[in-house]
Amino acid sequence: MARLLFSLAAAAASLTSASATATSGDFNILSFNVAGLPSILNDNSVTGDKATNAGTIGTLFTEYDYDVIHVQEDFNYHAYIYATDDHPYRTATSGGAGIGSGLNTLSNFDWIDFSRTKWATCSDASGADCLTPKGFTFMRTIVSEGVYIDFYNLHADAGTEDGDEVARAANLQQVADYIDVWSIGNSVVVYGDTNSRYTRAADGITVFETQNGLTDVFVELENGGVNPTVETICDNPSLINTCETVDKVFYRSSKQLTLSATYFSYESSKFLQSDGSILSDHNPITVNYTWAVSSSFRQSGFWGGPHGTWFNDLPSLPSSPKPSKLTFSGGSRLDSVGLTLTDGTVFSHGGTGGTSASLTLGSKEYWVSAELCQGQKDGETRNFYILATTSSGNTLSAGTATSDCATFSAPTGWQIVGYLGQDGDEMDQLAFIYAPQ
Ligand SMILES: *[C@@H]1O[C@H](CO)[C@@H](O)[C@H](O)[C@H]1NC(C)=O
Repeated sequence: MARLLFSLAAAAASLTSASATATSGDFNILSFNVAGLPSILNDNSVTGDKATNAGTIGTLFTEYDYDVIHVQEDFNYHAYIYATDDHPYRTATSGGAGIGSGLNTLSNFDWIDFSRTKWATCSDASGADCLTPKGFTFMRTIVSEGVYIDFYNLHADAGTEDGDEVARAANLQQVADYIDVWSIGNSVVVYGDTNSRYTRAADGITVFETQNGLTDVFVELENGGVNPTVETICDNPSLINTCETVDKVFYRSSKQLTLSATYFSYESSKFLQSDGSILSDHNPITVNYTWAVSSSFRQSGFWGGPHGTWFNDLPSLPSSPKPSKLTFSGGSRLDSVGLTLTDGTVFSHGGTGGTSASLTLGSKEYWVSAELCQGQKDGETRNFYILATTSSGNTLSAGTATSDCATFSAPTGWQIVGYLGQDGDEMDQLAFIYAPQ
């Protein structure tokens, strides 16, 4: 169950304005391979009827109310889990074994930008990993107003033959490369069934640490911050948290959000049949997180649709940024947005079309709010219009207004200093980065 903490100033403001923005909070997650292959293909060494067991898993998801649950191998008993689970936000299944990936998410938080990606490489060297299109999912989860965390769920190739090792390392590399493109500047949480161990170097499980700057919560909280060098095998149910399993949880903070893991545990003893038998051949893992927004950078909500390519000015922003000039281009829709900082840094996103307009800001003039309007182009949602307003009351607009608009205002004493979102020829999706004036 997630909790939000509101700053005193925001709480006081809420008495009059009704919209307080939480500045810190906590949430917990669960990663669980639910062993949902058809029982005639694989009984997973689990006793009992798989449909009944799936119903019990859903009941326990409801009872313990983890905020974001990623499941793997959620194939042919998926409907039984969803029948007894009551999380408000859940992915639609991609299908049973042979058709789907077995990856689903059950969440207390809504999200944007959901995608499913199939592995480019699979191996049947041992097991039948190519039988079904496994891979990973991505979602930009809305933890609180202006607090987004990129969540990844994955299920990598199994087995330890040479072909398996090659496929698995390629799978993990594929996720790492995706993070480098789609999560630039963002806080990230990756979890699922990696089928990997630190003691098998060929698995390549360190790629998330070396390439993406992610921390493994098991390594951080249960193994003294050191990657395991000796293989340990967990019992199931595991009564200790110091053994390494192939199901893993990784995360990182961003320049605008500090994410801290405070608790790691195998939850196996909570996930048992009524006779005490296990429900899956995997131990479920829970992690508790606390989060806090930065005092240097924050962000607005998004407007527009989930198309185009991700961009984020946050990593390129200097400390204490101050825009000196805004530049927008538009016509029937919004083609591009840009700005120049006093130190000469220039940001520009979108395409080259449209009519350009710019506004030079005085040294004590700040960009404090922006209205965006969205509409449909070729069946996809894009931004059609932007209207910027400064602390001196000057405005700059581009594009064509629609009836579907939102206004994003910097917190009192803050200003807009950069952009994030998804672009192509035009501004598909847009949000704003805030910094203190
Ligand atoms: C983990 O989070 C859950 C849900 O918020 C909470 O009930 C539990 O006490 C937390 N555990 C620890 C050790 O902080």
